[in-house]
Amino acid sequence: MKKQDLFGVVSDLALAVQAVSVYPDTHQRVQELLTRLHQRIKDESERLKTLHMGFMGDHAIVDEFPFLGLSPTLIKLIRRMQERGIEKVSFGEGITFGELKRFVYYVGGGKEGAAEMRWEHITCGRIHEIAEGGNIPSGLSPVMRSHVLQGAAEVLKSLLTSLAGEGAGGRVSEGRDLVAAVMKGLRQEGMLIDRLMRLQAHDDYTVTHSLNVCVIVVAQAIHLGFPEPQVQELGMAALLHDVGKETIPQEILNKPGRLDAGEFERMAEHPATGAKILRKLDCGSDLPMIVAFEHHVKYDRSGYPAVRFEGAMQPASYMTQIADVYDALRTYRPYRKSLDRETTISIMKEGRGKEFEPRLFDRFLELLP
Ligand SMILES: [Fe+2]
Ligand SMILES: [Fe+2]
Repeated sequence: MKKQDLFGVVSDLALAVQAVSVYPDTHQRVQELLTRLHQRIKDESERLKTLHMGFMGDHAIVDEFPFLGLSPTLIKLIRRMQERGIEKVSFGEGITFGELKRFVYYVGGGKEGAAEMRWEHITCGRIHEIAEGGNIPSGLSPVMRSHVLQGAAEVLKSLLTSLAGEGAGGRVSEGRDLVAAVMKGLRQEGMLIDRLMRLQAHDDYTVTHSLNVCVIVVAQAIHLGFPEPQVQELGMAALLHDVGKETIPQEILNKPGRLDAGEFERMAEHPATGAKILRKLDCGSDLPMIVAFEHHVKYDRSGYPAVRFEGAMQPASYMTQIADVYDALRTYRPYRKSLDRETTISIMKEGRGKEFEPRLFDRFLELLP
């Protein structure tokens, strides 16, 4: 119930902002929405003392609850906020109708200019600034960290549900253990979360994809009987496999058509770039760096980057590659529809022993319902 109420506040804020950008301020719809929004914010800020909202990528966080998979109206609100440099807003107890109205007009791009941006019970600003070429400053608060973790948990849970297929209750509860293992690892590695947030600021999809790949690799590791510390190490490596994409332009990452030769060459740099980034970080082991470098090298040594060494690659790289291809095919992309599970599996089976390490691939298939 509480989460529902908080969602009501943010969706009413989105509606009010949309209304003031379309209708004159005397319009009945504007008045109604502002009155309702004021009442809701007043109720929640009295209950909580201060009502906090945060906006990151395509996600909103109200109080301590993350909201993912938002409606177009809410996404539009987040964009408007971002245009005005607002990543977080706090509404204090005692907020008046007048100041809320001015705030809504400011976000909606109405009459108020930056000069009038002063409110007694509202504060807003950025969560963090990302320095060129540097790390996210250490100012990232513990509260924000836990928000990222909760956001990640939601993504992981929904993925697990879809992996398990509808009505497969047993597998969903197995999934909860999985999430717990991944979350435990994430909590211990604050710096790596910073890295993911940096990647999220660059390309939201890559982070969702990385989380999906992480869960699929953790599932494989548990299925193969790895002990828990190794499961976490493998999960961490999978989570970070695409960090090198933070230097690839978004137009290439999300291009609706085929990449031309130059673009493909640029894209193919991300494994080496990722390894370079991870070499400088303390990931607890070299595994994330190795997996970042090797995850596009296929079992038959085609793929990229070109490798000269003989002998087997890391099993973690093979496992990540399987998860990577599975998630990529199952997800909608601007250049391709998402494929259903049967089609995905039948395409992937053709790569057994060529693209994918055959024994690990067989074990992976056992995981799918
Ligand atoms: Fe990749
Ligand atoms: Fe990937």
